[in-house]
Amino acid sequence: MTQANLAAKPSDSFVPNKEWKEIIKPGEQELFEDFANRIITAQQREAAEQAGGTLARGFHAKLHAGLVAEFKVLDNLPEYARYGVFREPKVFPAVVRFSNGKPSQESDKRPEPRGIAIKLIGVPGDKLPPGKKDDVTQDFLATSHSVTSTVRDARQFMAFIEAGRKGGLLPVHLARAVGIGESLRILFALARTVLLSRVNSMATEHYSGTAPIKLGPYAVKFTVQPPEGTPRATPRPRTENFLREELADRLRAGDLMFDFVVQFYVNDKVTPIEDTSVRWEPENSPFLKVAQLRIPSCNLNNPQTRELSNKINQLSFSPWHTTEEHRPLGNVMRARKIAYQVSSELRGHGAEPTSLTSLLNNSQAEQP
Ligand code: HEM
Repeated sequence: MTQANLAAKPSDSFVPNKEWKEIIKPGEQELFEDFANRIITAQQREAAEQAGGTLARGFHAKLHAGLVAEFKVLDNLPEYARYGVFREPKVFPAVVRFSNGKPSQESDKRPEPRGIAIKLIGVPGDKLPPGKKDDVTQDFLATSHSVTSTVRDARQFMAFIEAGRKGGLLPVHLARAVGIGESLRILFALARTVLLSRVNSMATEHYSGTAPIKLGPYAVKFTVQPPEGTPRATPRPRTENFLREELADRLRAGDLMFDFVVQFYVNDKVTPIEDTSVRWEPENSPFLKVAQLRIPSCNLNNPQTRELSNKINQLSFSPWHTTEEHRPLGNVMRARKIAYQVSSELRGHGAEPTSLTSLLNNSQAEQP
């Protein structure tokens, strides 16, 4: 993804379009439930068997680091952006989990999606998942080089994952499921997006929410990206875990910063709600920076920081763990609702933090 041009932010007279809508196809819920219960759980069980270990996440199993952070909502936001957690200038304590995208623990050398999951703490309002109404947390999940940005919808995503699991030629299985034309389009897009990606640092990636969420009455997509001036990664051997090692060097030297930017829905052609293969181009919908994420300097190899990282790894993160003001939108998001629940329940996840202190307890991260 290219650097969001923050200079080209929405004009002063900008009024976002409220006329977005979701299209719910008959039978989709059954498909999503089947995929979660059959495929996601199978991926978890197979990965656990291969590694001879415990059940991990159905995707994004490999942890680079779990860290404490601060999520600062900016104080000069236009009226139309002031909804949900962006309602007023504020600093939320947060935790962040950096991951690779596969359900198995692969070498960082392999091309695959990379993830950032952010959990804000101290968020008021009723949370959407049943039984979670009173939680004080809210999550944002985003990936770079994602498969979801190449497929049109959840059906194609599920067909791609199933084709990869069938053994033999993936393109043949995929073409049978989605047709030759769409299969070729997806495979070319994947080659450009995932297979040819060369990630040198988790700090310099541009992570996209990929599917839209609500911002009050509006629909937006968000991106988490390094601010201008973030140093590139210095060359280093591409070892099994070089992304963690690179992160450790950066965090030893200083804080890590990310900008949190949003783009507003314009119309169904250039900013569709239901088709994740269409990138919301900044020319059509400029980026507006609404918050800044700061991960304070620390020593990743310090035992307390490792313990904290492990605790964060146990937590569950989900795009649905939010309020109505940021409700996820579109079929890909609807498919994720059940998938995250099934995966995190099967692996057994940690309790939702009630405060940062409740999480830190005896694992206070130390300065280097
Ligand atoms: C919009 C595109 C997507 C993005 C940005 C995204 C992002 C992420 C991220 C960052 C994580 C790691 C969360 C953590 O650190 O705990 C994750 C985990 C996961 N994702 Fe996605 N994902 C997307 C699409 C999907 C889809 C379409 C599915 C399946 C229908 C899916 C299923 C899962 C599952 C099962 C997990 C593990 C959940 C757990 O056990 O806690 N994701 N995703």
